[in-house]
Amino acid sequence: MKKLLMIGACSIALHISQAQTKTNTQDAKMNAFVSSLMQKMTVEEKIGQLNLVTPGGTVTGSVVSKDVDSKIRNGQVGSLFGITGPDKIRKAQEIAVNNSRLHIPLIFGLDVIHGHRTIFPIPLGLSCSWNMDMIEKSAEIAASEATADGLSWVYSPMVDIARDPRWGRVSEGSGEDTYLGCQVAKAMVKGYQGSSYSDPTKVMACVKHFALYGAAEAGRDYNTTDMSRIKMYEYYLPPYKAAVDAGVGSVMSSFNEVDGVPATANKWLMTDLLRKQWGFKGFVVTDYTAINEMIDHGLGDLQRVSAEALKAGIDMDMVGEGFLTTLQKSLKEGKVTVAQINAACKRVLEAKYKLGLFDDPYRYCNEQRFNNAILTDANRAAAREFAAKSMVLLKNNNNVLPLQKGKTIALVGPLADNKRNMLGTWSVSGDPEKSITVLQGLKNVAGSDANIIYARGCNISDDTAFAKKVNAFGKEIEIDTRSPQQMIDEAVVAASKADVIVAVLGEAADMTGESSSMSDIGLQKSQKALLDELKRTGKPIVIVLLNGRPMTLTWEDQNADAILDAWFSGTEAGNAIADVLFGNYNPSGKLTMSFPRNVGQIPIYYNHKNTGRPYSGVGAGKFRSNYLDVSNDPLYPFGFGLSYTSFTYSNVTVSSPTIKQGQKITASVTVTNSGKFDGTETVQLYIRDLVGTVTRPVKELKGYQQITLKAGESRKVDFTISVDDLKFYNTDLKRVAEPGDFKVFIGTNSRDVKEADFKLVQ
Ligand code: BGC
Repeated sequence: MKKLLMIGACSIALHISQAQTKTNTQDAKMNAFVSSLMQKMTVEEKIGQLNLVTPGGTVTGSVVSKDVDSKIRNGQVGSLFGITGPDKIRKAQEIAVNNSRLHIPLIFGLDVIHGHRTIFPIPLGLSCSWNMDMIEKSAEIAASEATADGLSWVYSPMVDIARDPRWGRVSEGSGEDTYLGCQVAKAMVKGYQGSSYSDPTKVMACVKHFALYGAAEAGRDYNTTDMSRIKMYEYYLPPYKAAVDAGVGSVMSSFNEVDGVPATANKWLMTDLLRKQWGFKGFVVTDYTAINEMIDHGLGDLQRVSAEALKAGIDMDMVGEGFLTTLQKSLKEGKVTVAQINAACKRVLEAKYKLGLFDDPYRYCNEQRFNNAILTDANRAAAREFAAKSMVLLKNNNNVLPLQKGKTIALVGPLADNKRNMLGTWSVSGDPEKSITVLQGLKNVAGSDANIIYARGCNISDDTAFAKKVNAFGKEIEIDTRSPQQMIDEAVVAASKADVIVAVLGEAADMTGESSSMSDIGLQKSQKALLDELKRTGKPIVIVLLNGRPMTLTWEDQNADAILDAWFSGTEAGNAIADVLFGNYNPSGKLTMSFPRNVGQIPIYYNHKNTGRPYSGVGAGKFRSNYLDVSNDPLYPFGFGLSYTSFTYSNVTVSSPTIKQGQKITASVTVTNSGKFDGTETVQLYIRDLVGTVTRPVKELKGYQQITLKAGESRKVDFTISVDDLKFYNTDLKRVAEPGDFKVFIGTNSRDVKEADFKLVQ
């Protein structure tokens, strides 16, 4: 046996060393190729490789690139974003390959964020599935469609931890938790890149926005961030690192400052941390005109900020052309060195080499794949499944859901029959016309079994000035020619004839996403007025919420019978919503961001500190850490989500009351499906370190397991806890586990848990 093991060990070692030799040989070949090419390049041409332009498409800043064709011809462009389609991409590539002096191909990138042509739920929604295989698959399908459309580089995953739902970009991330954020980051990179992005059905991913972009003060986009190093290391940086560890090919710098220096000129961030400590080998691109914006940050003129960015470790300048227009001057004046330009150019050329563009610059221009691999039935079926799995049931009184077939449904609300808003923000290549509305979905799923009376009921908002801002990318908020009262009256008439009201309410797609911060995250007045009147009918109300952020739903929680949070769930939204409403899929999503009771509670997150004056919720709370006018706890906590069935948890047991360095213990619980439906439950494990040299949160997610149980079935769920799970960053920024008492909690969400104790001993 021992011999066998040794042979096994030897053969593994042999495989590893063979793999290493293969990598070394590939690297040596790449180095030889890139350095021989660079010897032929002028400094101008090297700087040209650092220039990323867009002829249009997704424009999120005030600048759009000009004279793109002639710049490509002159070797002044390294990469391009904003165009799709093998025909267009081939044409642009031909200019670079046939007409530029050194024939260097371009990389074609785009914001492929939650699907490419087949749109999946917004990332915040996907994260609520807690299903990493599914999330990986969503990125894999996106990569397959993107490459069929001529692209080889996507600006995703966005892994910014965020604790403030006023910030519209929470929709693009995975919520407030670091542990879960790391899992999602890994899954997305794996899905996009596969084992190698040299595969022409895979893309190079770009993790963003490095770093701390999600901590914008007051939830206002592009605003200042400022935090302690411990907070950075412990909560905000790990998801970016997880993407780097997963082999992400590129990193995007963020707009915000980090420790007083904008990320885009922050040498500590881009070089010391990212490259030296984390060993990142790919290239760093700025965010849209982030170099130029450092002028407004107050760092100097364009020449200075461009030089600072290069010196900090930025390799590619998105759209702003600060590198293109100033680096030569800076070189002449000794403000940057050739070595710095060479290092950046080399990284960009290496990415092109790894993508296989030097072998075949047209490898992503495959018309056959363009015709066969996009918006396929299989991709749409996946979108429908992923959407159902991302939805979170927030309330379900008296089992009003699932809806019974054969009943009359009053389907109301401005989002009930609305293709324009189904896809959500950052679905730049999605076609809203291809999306399924809730009205269509209900008809598709229930067929003749449901009698549906539709009435729009209200506008998303009646505020024309607000609508104008939201409608920057198209008419998402349409103000009806009927008066608000007339629409409400129509909805009330529909309700009076129905057994149940399904009100599809929430936000327009671009009320979240970039530059979409909100100071009030409740439903708009127009929608509240509709709900008020519907309530008076006495009919049961099911709210289906389409939203990109946690919202304040205190009134809705008290007055609706059921609330299903469907997020913006993409191309197949309507079908998936109907699947859930009719019980063809039993909801299993769990929130990855806390839902506050009101805006005053923000920032609100489950893994907060205890403080020196914690408030338990009992008594007046004078001189304890709490509010006079609202409780401390959120309306719906992190990890929360109901099912049509119910799950009961036994007490938690631990395999040993102590754990030592190098050892593991097991914490276990038995979960029973005590309801009437089969269902999937995400069993969550949290740990609290009771005493430490730095203060530790009241609980932190350290594991979860998703189990599917038949009605009446029970299963024991075991979690392995290792000393590594107990580690944290101390004041020297070292990750340590300190001996002492710990609590382990297991439960159905971060609030409703059972607990046991154990000790870490030396
Ligand atoms: C956004 C990025 C995006 C880029 C390119 C920026 O405004 O912050 O997330 O990738 O534009 O579209």
